[in-house]
Amino acid sequence: STGNRVKIVEVGPRDGLQNEKIKVPLESKIELINRLSDCGLPVIESASFVSPKWVPQMADSDLVMERIIKKPSVRYTALVPNQKGLHAAEKSGVREIAIFGAASETFSKKNINCSIDQSIENFSKVVERAKIIGMDIRGYVSCVVGCPYEGDVDSDIVAYVASRMYQMGCYEISLGDTIGVGTPGKTLEMIEKVSKRVPIEKLAVHFHDTYGQAIANIYASAGIRVVDSSIAGLGGCPYAKGASGNVATEDVVYLLEGIGCNTGIDMEKLVKTGEWISSVLGKDYGSKAGKAILSK
Ligand code: HMG
Ligand code: MG
Repeated sequence: STGNRVKIVEVGPRDGLQNEKIKVPLESKIELINRLSDCGLPVIESASFVSPKWVPQMADSDLVMERIIKKPSVRYTALVPNQKGLHAAEKSGVREIAIFGAASETFSKKNINCSIDQSIENFSKVVERAKIIGMDIRGYVSCVVGCPYEGDVDSDIVAYVASRMYQMGCYEISLGDTIGVGTPGKTLEMIEKVSKRVPIEKLAVHFHDTYGQAIANIYASAGIRVVDSSIAGLGGCPYAKGASGNVATEDVVYLLEGIGCNTGIDMEKLVKTGEWISSVLGKDYGSKAGKAILSK
């Protein structure tokens, strides 16, 4: 039933890979996205049209977007920080983009080289143009509970940035615990504040699992029906020192199905994909649910 439906936004090919130091072969990126498509994931964040000087790993995003096999039932999205990125995304056939701001001034400066208000001004121009060419736009707010440079983050600033993104036309705002410092109480407090200014059905949660709190935080995110996660728990942000991987998609699916939510995802295929990409990257498989299922 759709009543229990939770949408998972798979961010592995972008958030999961962007922080990898060694160049991931183009063929592996494409195979990853194609395999994720076969798992039944409705949304796959596949690329990032940022400056290759800032994030070298994402430099072949145009080729990734051009060469993946696109299923009609899947939305393939990409990060875009500015007009230049929007233009590149458009050229390689991207239909949906995500802009990304932050609730911390220092993080904003380190990550996108401008203040929060400058970023909102820049993004509104990107969004304006993206709407004209018929793209859907998602918005990210980073550092929603804590910042690697400033520590605790004021939820009023999170609500401010989220509402500005919503007003400019983002159809969904993803709240990012970039460095995974949140705990359920703080997280719920933050969501309550943000949902006074952005309807809760327009919000998503995006937890990194640095302190092992991501699953608890998802469970605590009452009322939110969209969860971002990354295959095998890959991930991290190059401009957030100490940020570890995103919560593993496999673990999220296990949680959600276990509490009676329907994700539409094929767990067996998902786990095989997680094990495979971990071996490609030379990493131990980072999903607890995935490892348990494989060892049965
Ligand atoms: P800047 O240096 O201020 O930009 O960077 P600029 O306009 O002065 O351009 C500098 C150079 O970059 C120029 O090249 C531009 O052409 C080029 P040069 O003339 O020196 O040869 N350039 C570009 N090239 C390709 N595509 C572009 C582009 N833009 C400029 N789009 C900028 C500003 C925003 C570009 C830079 O800071 C940047 O790319 N930042 C991205 C950082 C990033 O990707 N971080 C990770 C993603 S965010 C994240 O992970 C958090 C999230 O997961 C949620 C969470 O966990 O909280 C979403
Ligand atoms: Mg992230």
